Amino acid sequence: MRYGPNRLIFNSAAALRDIHQNPKVTKSRLYLFSLNDGVPFIFNSLDRIVHLRKRKIIGPALSERSMRLFEPTLAEQMDIFLKQLLAAHSSPINLTERCRRLAMDVVGHLAFGFPLDLQTKDEHYYVLSGFSIANFRINSYMNFPFLSKLGLDHLFNRSPFRRKLRSVVQKMITTRLAQDRKETPDFYSIVMDNLETKSVNFQRSELFTESLFFISAGGDTVSTAMASLFFYLSRNKHCYNKLSNEIRTTFKSGNEIRSGPQLARCGYLRACIDETLRMSPPIGGTLWREQSNQEDGEPFVVDGHVIPRGTHVGVNIYSIHHNEKYFPEPFTFKPERWLNRDGKQVAPEAAVVVPSDAQTAFTPFSVGARSCVGKPMAYLESSLLVAKTLWYFDFEKCRGSRSEIGSGKEGARGGRGRVSEFQLYDVITSRHDGPYLTFVPRGDYCEELQ
Ligand code: HEM
Repeated sequence: MRYGPNRLIFNSAAALRDIHQNPKVTKSRLYLFSLNDGVPFIFNSLDRIVHLRKRKIIGPALSERSMRLFEPTLAEQMDIFLKQLLAAHSSPINLTERCRRLAMDVVGHLAFGFPLDLQTKDEHYYVLSGFSIANFRINSYMNFPFLSKLGLDHLFNRSPFRRKLRSVVQKMITTRLAQDRKETPDFYSIVMDNLETKSVNFQRSELFTESLFFISAGGDTVSTAMASLFFYLSRNKHCYNKLSNEIRTTFKSGNEIRSGPQLARCGYLRACIDETLRMSPPIGGTLWREQSNQEDGEPFVVDGHVIPRGTHVGVNIYSIHHNEKYFPEPFTFKPERWLNRDGKQVAPEAAVVVPSDAQTAFTPFSVGARSCVGKPMAYLESSLLVAKTLWYFDFEKCRGSRSEIGSGKEGARGGRGRVSEFQLYDVITSRHDGPYLTFVPRGDYCEELQ
């Protein structure tokens, strides 16, 4: 599709490969709209060497090993989430709200061992609003660059949310600086020796800008995945039953639910997460790319089309995830599509061994050198949250006026009319609301939580 005078959007697995697994392609200049006071960070570094250096520094903070060290903190935050469900005494809970608070608290701890305490207090609530506004701004400029010339930044920069957000991130860093380096195995302890901190204005230092992005990337995405997963389970009874049966027969107690072979054996859980990420990708837009300045004399070809230099190209994640060629009945939530005939889960990584159409077109974390570095954390956090919730509670759609919040509206135009789809609004990450669910404790299992 021709999206603009020099923009092309593709909808094929071949394009995904030709664009994202191609060393002569770089992120497009449109990403420069996301610079933070002119300072680049991992997300918008166009130069391959600059990006590689940052990735080598930041990657280890999110490795499987780091996740194992971080897991007790993750579990503590999940206990708070579960206790809040218990305290609600079966009154409706907005999962968007609860998951956003949880995910941001988790990433605050992961980044700097800092308690934002959003799950229990409102003191730092502006962090959530601040990131929403910042992402809305970047997304608007990337899609409609002329908006950046209207002087709107004057308004964005004056937003009290922006100011407060930046000052709390600064406070998180300075609080952490005052502690022993090894006290907490967090992002800071891993990157501190290698990220620049000496800028005259600290908010323009590499450590500050990378931290700001890290918190947004880790908080704003997993929360969408978790809220969407609750939405689809509450609307698809047979999936809910199958998954709760898997969790309740695999583990013997709620405390046993942690990373390891038992959790890895929960193939239906992984299939539900992958199906959620397919149906409602937290980053669902087009990740713009272009040919780098490197000249090798060869044309740049995407899915058989020669692309003129300077053209922005991309595969739209939402569109390819709903392309019938790869995903029959694309608007139906079917975790079974990720299972083998014998019911075993086929991890997308298995695509290397058993390529299937679905696996080659599944790209919620993007692919190639610029793909998401937080993928292990995203799977761990969403797996643990849903497994633990299903261990301690039964849940369903609430009754009354709030029951359909999050769904499309019957009769509405286009995608907004899809009642069985969790509605996401693209701001690079996603805005959403609901679902509102009620949670009933299972037997006396919740005594463990008190
Ligand atoms: C379900 C959850 C998540 C999804 C769907 C997701 C998706 C993505 C996508 C699509 C990109 C590529 C963006 C682009 O090309 O412009 C990306 C990059 C990135 N993500 Fe995630 N992400 C998730 C969770 C996380 C978490 C938990 C963290 C860290 C705590 C994280 C950190 C990053 C970083 C640092 C990058 C930049 C990587 C680079 O450019 O080398 N993400 N993510």
